[in-house]
Amino acid sequence: MPHIRLRQFRLMVLAALLLPAAAALADPKAAFVARCAMCHQAGGEGLAGQFPRLAGRAAAIAGAPAGRRYLVRVVLHGMAGPIEVEGTRIAGVMPGMASLSDADIAAVLSHAISLGKPARPPRPVTPAEVAAVRGEGPGSMADNRALRAQLVAEGLIK
Ligand code: HEC
Repeated sequence: MPHIRLRQFRLMVLAALLLPAAAALADPKAAFVARCAMCHQAGGEGLAGQFPRLAGRAAAIAGAPAGRRYLVRVVLHGMAGPIEVEGTRIAGVMPGMASLSDADIAAVLSHAISLGKPARPPRPVTPAEVAAVRGEGPGSMADNRALRAQLVAEGLIK
């Protein structure tokens, strides 16, 4: 049955072509590089005055449940308007990325909170955590900036 073997061969070629792409997206570092590094830079070091540094800072924010919720909300709904990061004003726009899957958002955030060699590394963000925040319903960039101001006042975001 040569025609069946040929079909199997074609499927294997297709799988070989598609699987590395799928694996790369599930890998936290690759997902961060693909979705976040163009602004926050590959090591999460940010760009002063333009993009907040995430290395070390995201880890600190992820140490509290309210901070973890904030991180997920920022990736889902974005944020815009002036904020202060390490004494420098940033007035940028981060687009919301609600079209990413729960698994992809968990992956990018898990990588973000591992950056900067945190002394007490927070546990990775799970797809279930992302799904729970997504399930709260719609959010906006302005909501997130207000939420950030609250977490700054509580001392969670510096
Ligand atoms: C197009 C550029 C851009 C991309 C892409 C981007 N961000 Fe942002 N991000 C920003 C800007 C600009 C801000 C600050 C927004 C403001 O000034 O209100 C920000 C803010 C944040 C914050 C809040 C920091 C704080 O101090 O409160 C987090 C967390 C964050 N981004 C994570 C991510 C992650 C994770 C990704 C990848 C999924 C990502 N960002 C992709 C531009 C970007």
